[in-house]
Amino acid sequence: MTDLGDVRGDFPLLGRTFEGRPLVYLDSAATTQKPHRVIETIDRYYRELNANVHRGAYRLSAAATDAYEEARAKVARFIGAGSPEEVVFTRGATTALNHVAYGWGLHRLGSGDRILLTVMEHHSNIVPWQMVARLTGAELVYLDVDDEYRVDLSNLDELLDERVKIVSVSGMSNVTGALGPVAELAEAVADTEAVLVVDGAQLVPHAPVDVAALGADFLAFSGHKMLGPTGIGVLWGRPERLADLEPTEGGGEMIVDVTLTDAKWAPVPHRFEAGTPPIAQAIGLGAAVDYLEDLGMDAVRAHEEAITAYALDRLSEIPDLTVYGPRDVATRGGAVSFELGDIHAHDLATILDEHGVAVRAGHHCAKPLMRRLGAVATTRASFYVYNVAEDVDRLVEALWKAREVFGLD
Ligand SMILES: Cc1ncc(COP(=O)(O)O)c(C=O)c1O
Repeated sequence: MTDLGDVRGDFPLLGRTFEGRPLVYLDSAATTQKPHRVIETIDRYYRELNANVHRGAYRLSAAATDAYEEARAKVARFIGAGSPEEVVFTRGATTALNHVAYGWGLHRLGSGDRILLTVMEHHSNIVPWQMVARLTGAELVYLDVDDEYRVDLSNLDELLDERVKIVSVSGMSNVTGALGPVAELAEAVADTEAVLVVDGAQLVPHAPVDVAALGADFLAFSGHKMLGPTGIGVLWGRPERLADLEPTEGGGEMIVDVTLTDAKWAPVPHRFEAGTPPIAQAIGLGAAVDYLEDLGMDAVRAHEEAITAYALDRLSEIPDLTVYGPRDVATRGGAVSFELGDIHAHDLATILDEHGVAVRAGHHCAKPLMRRLGAVATTRASFYVYNVAEDVDRLVEALWKAREVFGLD
């Protein structure tokens, strides 16, 4: 299909069969499968390197610390950060966004201030802001989506006034696949006092991202959606923003001194990593980054465009099937949400599973968007580097079977 070739052999779980046929895994927007290289790196860490970081005077601990910090440097390089110190390890994109909501918003927002979001956000980029708005008296305002499922910027000038102190937007929707208007918002925000936060949970795994060119102040993403393990994510921030961000968790490792009444924070990024960090997970994420760099992020993106174009084409053959998302693959990623007639999304996903096709069904943690689209639930197929055209064919074949089962003919 593209230069990426068939990399399925790198992913042991994809060797499993269901109903006597190879698994068709189409749920990578939820979490991706892991290549041998990541699994073996984590295995080797526990067999050869396991020790707590940053506190041991012995060689094993120093080696574990080096490996942990090397993973930070790899992630920094991967996103074009100026230095590893701009990379904070978190539990995931959700935790990274909460760091900004509580570490920035809570200390700067007050009554009369506004946070500008879009209706296509994942709950992780809505609920933390709602919680902080409740505590500060700030107000949430939203950009809508248009008929093409893209964020509607027609009233941006009106909404982006001096009351807006934070703008937070998804780089790519996990429901419609639509790319977020990051460049446009970065340009608009540059003339204001507001900071721009990008939820990169779907963007960073699927397209080349260079924070030097992104125009954002903060970027959040998750390791497990980019071939890495669960329990690790990243908050990137501009150095001057991280310097002004308050830590939201206190504990060991994040201080240089503690008295009975006070504490002095450690330098960035350690002040944001209280307690024992997810060491094996960070090192595993480093291996995932190595793997993606070997594939090349341009090739990853090209593969996604090609397989998404093929999927949209093949899905259009099926009567009564409605796709919720842009048609033009240049403006979207590989999360494809759809409804088939009046079949409930969960019933449809169950039938697909009986044919060895794993998809997600439900509201995809984006209830405001689902309400806006007028859908209670959708079925979502989402693609990644290991998906091939035959996976789409198997999906389409199973959808025809579902039509038969539910008497849609
Ligand atoms: C767009 C988007 N943002 C944020 C998240 C939250 O990621 P995590 O659950 O890994 O913290 C997700 C997860 O599905 C997502 O798709």
